[in-house]
Amino acid sequence: MPSITVKPISSLNAEFEVPGDKSISHRAAILAGLSNGVCRIDNYLPSEDCICTLNAMAQLGAQHETLESKPGYGPTSLTIQGSSMRLSPPAKEVDCGNSGTGMRLLAGLLAAQPFESVLTGDASLQSRPMGRIITPLKEMGAKIEACGDSPGCAPLHITGGELRPICYEMPVASAQVKSAVLLAGLFAEGTTSVIQPAETRDHTERMLAYFRMTSDRDGQRISVRGGQIPEAGNLRVPGDISSAAFWIVAAASMPGAHLLIRNVGLNPTRTAILDVMSRMGADIKRTAHSEECGEPYGDIEVTGKSLQGTEILPEEVPNLIDEIPVLAVAGALAQGVMVIRNAKELRVKESDRITTVVHNLKKMGADVEEYEDGMEITGGKSLTGVPLESFGDHRIAMAFAIAGLFASGETSIDNTACIDTSYPGFADHLEMILATQPAG
Ligand code: S3P
Repeated sequence: MPSITVKPISSLNAEFEVPGDKSISHRAAILAGLSNGVCRIDNYLPSEDCICTLNAMAQLGAQHETLESKPGYGPTSLTIQGSSMRLSPPAKEVDCGNSGTGMRLLAGLLAAQPFESVLTGDASLQSRPMGRIITPLKEMGAKIEACGDSPGCAPLHITGGELRPICYEMPVASAQVKSAVLLAGLFAEGTTSVIQPAETRDHTERMLAYFRMTSDRDGQRISVRGGQIPEAGNLRVPGDISSAAFWIVAAASMPGAHLLIRNVGLNPTRTAILDVMSRMGADIKRTAHSEECGEPYGDIEVTGKSLQGTEILPEEVPNLIDEIPVLAVAGALAQGVMVIRNAKELRVKESDRITTVVHNLKKMGADVEEYEDGMEITGGKSLTGVPLESFGDHRIAMAFAIAGLFASGETSIDNTACIDTSYPGFADHLEMILATQPAG
């Protein structure tokens, strides 16, 4: 099984791009596949998660053709032949791999189709809660059965059909739930709305607009009208700020370090990581370029300093939920206390990220206390390199590779194949940074 071994570094001076945004890539594949023509997508994330969504759309009749790919991974440039909103029944189960986003968004689509389908995934995905999308989709009239070993979990048997529009007040701040309902709403007659309890990433709304579809926003209520057809177009996916986050934390925590990440997404519903790091004292400059597929993007430049812990605000949590594992590492490297609360959602990600982060931080010698909804880290204790587990979770694997750069001795992380679900090429970037260390 692949593993990563990391040694401490004493300098970091790097300039590179991270792969395309995962959330945007999923949505691009889905909306291009629903569009009325051929769409070219560049800088698609060639990761397992996003390949599953491409394959799912192909099974539903929206075929893609690869123009360029990252060797050993998947397509980075491709065309998708849209289906003009007329999908065809899949010949077999649709496999979403490790991807909660893929499964939840596709469930919204499939609930509205005049055929039966089954959505399945790997062991981690089959343990994640699907009730959160089943409830609103059933309210719209869909027939969905969760057939997994755990209650409310995949495989999902979907008997699609005509849906009625609803106004759904989401109990959790989840962009996946919002997107599942909005995608289903595109097939319902009338206006479907979701009300989110807090701001969540708005890539679906931006992508709908880019494909010339109308969605309305009134406070935290987002609505779509059924019967619209996405207008085919070409798009380029900006880099994934959640992947950049690993290097941002590494550079920001190392006095004297310098890092430039180019062409990365700067959507304000995703940049809370930069705000929190700045509050910790980090020197981070953003240079906005323009927009790609309705998404702001630009460069992020980081100059290393010593950092102070901070408290993550409740309203920031949904907008940095994926960055919390590496922010916890930043907390352990900083002086003072880092408070991460109101983040119970972490328990239902690819792993229970409260348990896995706390476990690994403790193993490295950090001072950390676990709470039901988060953790509190008293930073400044020196970290020790030890053998660690990824728990099959890509972000745990990468966060602790970063921790290893600051730990004494050698840190090894087992079971790192999962990194390919979001950041193909992470090991190469890590290698590049390790290779530029001054001798001795
Ligand atoms: C995502 C939304 C987030 C995030 C996930 C991707 C998306 O999940 O954790 O990695 O693309 O919509 P929730 O919005 O369900 O919390």
